[in-house]
Amino acid sequence: MKRLRIAMIGCGRISQVYKESFKHLEDQVEVKYAVDVKLDRAKAFAEEFKGCIATDDYRSCLQGDVDLVHIATPHHMHPMIATEAMKHKIHVLTEKPMSIHLQDADQMIQVAKEEGVKLGVIFQTRYVEGYKTIKNMIREGKLGKIIGARSYLSWDRSDDYYKQSDWKGSWDKEGGGVLIDQAIHSIDRVQDLIGDEVDWIEASMQNRNHKVVDVEDVAEAFVQFKNGCMYQLYACNCYSYDAPIQIEIVGEKGKVGLIQDLAWVRLEDDGYYEIEDERKGVTAGPSYWGYSHIMQIQDFYHAVRENEKVIIDGIEGRKALEIIRGIYHAATLNKRIAFPFEDLKDALIQ
Ligand SMILES: NC(=O)c1ccc[n+]([C@@H]2O[C@H](COP(=O)([O-])OP(=O)(O)OC[C@H]3O[C@@H](n4cnc5c(N)ncnc54)[C@H](O)[C@@H]3O)[C@@H](O)[C@H]2O)c1
Repeated sequence: MKRLRIAMIGCGRISQVYKESFKHLEDQVEVKYAVDVKLDRAKAFAEEFKGCIATDDYRSCLQGDVDLVHIATPHHMHPMIATEAMKHKIHVLTEKPMSIHLQDADQMIQVAKEEGVKLGVIFQTRYVEGYKTIKNMIREGKLGKIIGARSYLSWDRSDDYYKQSDWKGSWDKEGGGVLIDQAIHSIDRVQDLIGDEVDWIEASMQNRNHKVVDVEDVAEAFVQFKNGCMYQLYACNCYSYDAPIQIEIVGEKGKVGLIQDLAWVRLEDDGYYEIEDERKGVTAGPSYWGYSHIMQIQDFYHAVRENEKVIIDGIEGRKALEIIRGIYHAATLNKRIAFPFEDLKDALIQ
């Protein structure tokens, strides 16, 4: 099999997971470039791969000898880098969120279509075995009509976490706080499990315990889906530890849920059971990043090679972002936001 020639753009914290994944996939990838504006980080990454060039300018890896780029930079950079890469006919797998604003997400989707390249957005937690099982059960109708959902995230991000970063905690670079960074995975999973469009959102948010930044560290929302399902969400990153994320989906014939990556099922006629993730992938860094990046990366490579549809493409990647932007609008304007809505890029909404 011809190896895909790739570049890693952004060699910060999460790049450790990519480094380990590329080592496991060495028969599939040739790591040609490691890119970071902090060149020492690019060099440290490049050292792990024979012939890999370290550079501080992502444009230098868009000149013809790369098939695909992985983007793991601050959020606000994702659209610019992705768009430029795609305009050079390079496939893009970007970290979540694909962008901060919906207009940029739309443009990325449009450019991928025009250039005929693949665009994927990392939501690795959708690749957890138990998650896939409960999603199939919902799709097969085993829960009956889906009527309710809730997600609960209470994690711990210190003031130092924000102080040590030159982009986290800012509206212009991170695009928000606990919702767009930490809770985005659970929001993505819940909307994917419900499998329908949002009708409207009401929400509130605050910054309660991170006075070093001005983004939200607590948010709650009521998300009404068009199929009638009511989704209640709560997220905060000012708890005392990273408690397991809790997700619950309620159907007329039973309930399913997740406690972090452990799935559980309670059906009227089938009792209660749990589904462990037996198929461990690759991890590095904090445990809450999980093991599944490598599975989504492999899936993306497969889609590129076989010219198949990317499972979490731009349109899929946009869905959780749209809910989050809807919450920011609803909470800031203190009113119900009916979908679809115009995503205002202004100082009020941020
Ligand atoms: N999927 C997950 O579970 C998960 C977990 C952590 C982070 N992430 C995502 O990964 C991305 C990076 O997060 P992180 O925690 O690694 O951040 P980080 O700050 O540790 O790393 C970002 C890196 O990008 C570099 N950078 C900035 N501008 C650049 C540019 N123009 N060109 C090249 N490099 C540039 C920075 O110097 C830094 O080294 C974010 O989108 C974040 O949300 C995802």
